[in-house]
Amino acid sequence: MLKRINETVDFLQAKFPRKPQFGIILGTGLGALVNDIAIETTIDYADIPNFEVSTVESHSGKLIFGRLSGKDVVVMQGRFHYYEGYTMQQVTFPVRVLKFLGIERLFISNAAGGLLKAMHPSDIMIINDHINLQPENPLRGVHCPEFGPRFPDLMHCYDRQMIDQALDIAQKNDIKCFEGVYVSLQGPCLETPAEYRYLAQIGADAVGMSTVPEVLVAVQMGLPVFAVSVITDEAFPDVVVPVTIESVLKAAFAAEPKMTFLIKELLKTY
Ligand code: HPA
Repeated sequence: MLKRINETVDFLQAKFPRKPQFGIILGTGLGALVNDIAIETTIDYADIPNFEVSTVESHSGKLIFGRLSGKDVVVMQGRFHYYEGYTMQQVTFPVRVLKFLGIERLFISNAAGGLLKAMHPSDIMIINDHINLQPENPLRGVHCPEFGPRFPDLMHCYDRQMIDQALDIAQKNDIKCFEGVYVSLQGPCLETPAEYRYLAQIGADAVGMSTVPEVLVAVQMGLPVFAVSVITDEAFPDVVVPVTIESVLKAAFAAEPKMTFLIKELLKTY
């Protein structure tokens, strides 16, 4: 895998020679942050050696280099999910590439169902911990010491300082913001009422189908992570509103400016 990473890194460095300071992964319906970037280079995933092609319509599949809040950033507009049929190594390959490009911090967003009664569509939740219910682990397999430890400690997956800074920014700007635990399932089905009840009981506050694999790889490589969920539906057992991709996208679009603001302001503090 190291050889393939180096190949991809060499290709990308030829397109954008500066070292990006921050990596950002944008989730479902949350791609509009790129409108705020002074874009210098855009590359379709299809044109990047060893990258997969995102098969989800709501994910556009572009790697964007440019400046945001005065910082050099590399942004994944669209990510890979396990439910698309990729292996966990394929899902997380871009995170390894971003680390080898030199990023110092990783920002991640996703769309998620809200498991707390107080949550409503278009609310945002900063992730402070996770429960991994994905069927596979991206670190499974032959260990590559260049990536970090074989058995990474997961006590501090989400950078506490970044969470506190984001909460402070949210409070000062009147942005309602939850902080909580994200549970990741493989999807692509949504959950049954009994499953929503179960997820709430085991300690999750929001449920989705991504993020955790990327976080595990980032943590192994020593990258501080900041992750935020946009709540797109009420995942309560007694609410029987069916979740559709349209309703998810609508809620994500509505919340996107808040999320973008938070990330932009947080970037300025580094
Ligand atoms: N469950 C799982 N994934 C999701 C949901 C949900 O309710 N909403 C958005 N992504």
